[in-house]
Amino acid sequence: MKFFLDTANIDHIKQIYELGLLDGVTTNPSLIAKTGKPFKVVFQEICNLVKGPVSLEVVSTESAKMIEEAHKLVEFGSNVVVKIPMTLEGLKAVKILAEEGIKTNVTLCFSPLQALMAAKAKATYISPFIGRLDDYAHDGMELVREIKTIYDNYGFETEIIVASIRHPLHILDAALLGADIATVPFDVFNKISLHPLTEKGLDQFLQDWKKVPAEKA
Ligand code: G3P
Repeated sequence: MKFFLDTANIDHIKQIYELGLLDGVTTNPSLIAKTGKPFKVVFQEICNLVKGPVSLEVVSTESAKMIEEAHKLVEFGSNVVVKIPMTLEGLKAVKILAEEGIKTNVTLCFSPLQALMAAKAKATYISPFIGRLDDYAHDGMELVREIKTIYDNYGFETEIIVASIRHPLHILDAALLGADIATVPFDVFNKISLHPLTEKGLDQFLQDWKKVPAEKA
């Protein structure tokens, strides 16, 4: 499974990038707003740093305007994926951009039929929002399961990005279901590799090592 970072914070991207485990980045208008910087500066910084796909979102709501925006967004780098909202206007834009060879990520997906529509429009990626469904007592991961089944049934090539991740269990469940990608917030990323028994065990090994006699010269 590929790991994307769901952030527009360049320092956070640098930290995770240094681990060598980062496959891409997703952003959205809310994440860009949090940086407090002009969007063009943020887009360029991220695209220059990250080698893998970087999702940058349009803010127009009509397909023609979305396409115009998409043409500007892809100028930030050859790795840009244009993020488009899951609306009929959005799907129109996705279809045309696919014909132009521009990659898209259909965002704000909350139902399996939306995901089916996005795949038929030839979206490169679909982003089901898991945590936001869980917030309303709907099982977000069930949505991923249904999308995976539909895509497998018909051999769609659209990749599933599990988004709106809130905790490591979401990542585990996504991996068990065979989702292609998890886009993970920085704080959750830092928890993935942690286990108290690993820390306890390492501490014990290091303490015991001190008891081993040093070799005589
Ligand atoms: O970037 C899209 C998605 O991951 C947003 O997550 O936490 O705002 O529901 P969240």
